Amino acid sequence: MRRVYFDNNATTPVLPEVFEAMRPYFSEHFGNASSIHHHGQETRAAVERARESVAALLGCKPTEIVFTSGGTEADNLAIFGLIKAGDHVITSTIEHHAVLNSGKHLQSAGCDVTYVPVDAQGLVGPDDVRRALRPNTKLITIMMANNETGVLQPVEEIGKIAAEADVYFHTDAVQAAGKVSIDVKRIGCDLLSISGHKMHAPQGVGALFVRKGTSLTPLFWGGSHERSRRAGTENVPGIVGLGRAAGIAKSVLDRGEVAHMDEMRDRMEREILKKVEATGVNGANAPRVPNTSNIYFDGIEGEALQIALDLKGLAVSTGAACSSGAIEPSHVLTAMGLPPERARSSIRFSLGKQNTSEEVEFALTLIPQVVARLRDLSPVYNKEAVSH
Ligand SMILES: Cc1ncc(COP(=O)(O)O)c(C=O)c1O
Repeated sequence: MRRVYFDNNATTPVLPEVFEAMRPYFSEHFGNASSIHHHGQETRAAVERARESVAALLGCKPTEIVFTSGGTEADNLAIFGLIKAGDHVITSTIEHHAVLNSGKHLQSAGCDVTYVPVDAQGLVGPDDVRRALRPNTKLITIMMANNETGVLQPVEEIGKIAAEADVYFHTDAVQAAGKVSIDVKRIGCDLLSISGHKMHAPQGVGALFVRKGTSLTPLFWGGSHERSRRAGTENVPGIVGLGRAAGIAKSVLDRGEVAHMDEMRDRMEREILKKVEATGVNGANAPRVPNTSNIYFDGIEGEALQIALDLKGLAVSTGAACSSGAIEPSHVLTAMGLPPERARSSIRFSLGKQNTSEEVEFALTLIPQVVARLRDLSPVYNKEAVSH
């Protein structure tokens, strides 16, 4: 059966060039990057080349890059590396759980956390961030691109607010890296997280940009790897893969090739909205990364649509979480003010470098049929009452 994968915000396939770059580091170049003999020197050099490549993608110095096991660890290192009991942290209601649940944990450990709201387009208001500042605010952590809607946050304005208030600024750029250009100086952040598997490198590797002079308490205690910021033998093949993927992402962005993805995404949205009644794009009027589209299909359970599309070969996702057997609507969409039924009817389509216009056509043929069938079966969907 034909399978089309439009769930690249969950994870991306490793690009063939990335896989080829990694391959020797599983076998002939197997040394521990901390060993001083030839084998170690070889892998050390590969890790340092990867560090340069990641630094070039983010516009920072190689020494400001700390390799981690992924986005979750990078977010945790940024937050728990800085915050102590009594500190105040500002974040938003639409963060990934890597940040939201870190915030909850901080609260249980005696810290204050403010969750600033978003507007109907899913945008954090810089003035809300400014108003949330307190004398004991130590950190602002606001994501660069939202994983469910793709909405890009005003990180440069927030960076200025943080600088004026002399507060650290961390941004989770896991869903931005490789999709839009990132320059840590322009953003004015002190810390920035990325993850390999969201940008065609493997799962289980990521990086945290740590501005020179920012002192972090490590999460793990052990050897002095990563300049004592992240103990543990480096995942050399993963780091090499991340370096190669960062190099590819930079040249694609420099050549403006992401515009192709933008066009495919926009065509998909336009056609779905045209062909299927009672639909709309969540966050349509905000700036967004070029690959993500979050669409509501009134009268349908997103989970049911996801399963029905999967049975026909199209992989997509809902932002819903299953807690204690009940399907909870997405915290991101409800924070944007969507009623729970509309949030539950929403589906995320996320494209990747491997997707083609022909795959978009496949989806555009399939989606109207599947939605019509589910709506026919729906006891709540009333054709006469729909509003676009
Ligand atoms: C915005 C965001 N932050 C953090 C993460 C976590 O990254 P990882 O899967 O590498 O731990 C994700 C993954 O979905 C994400 O989308």
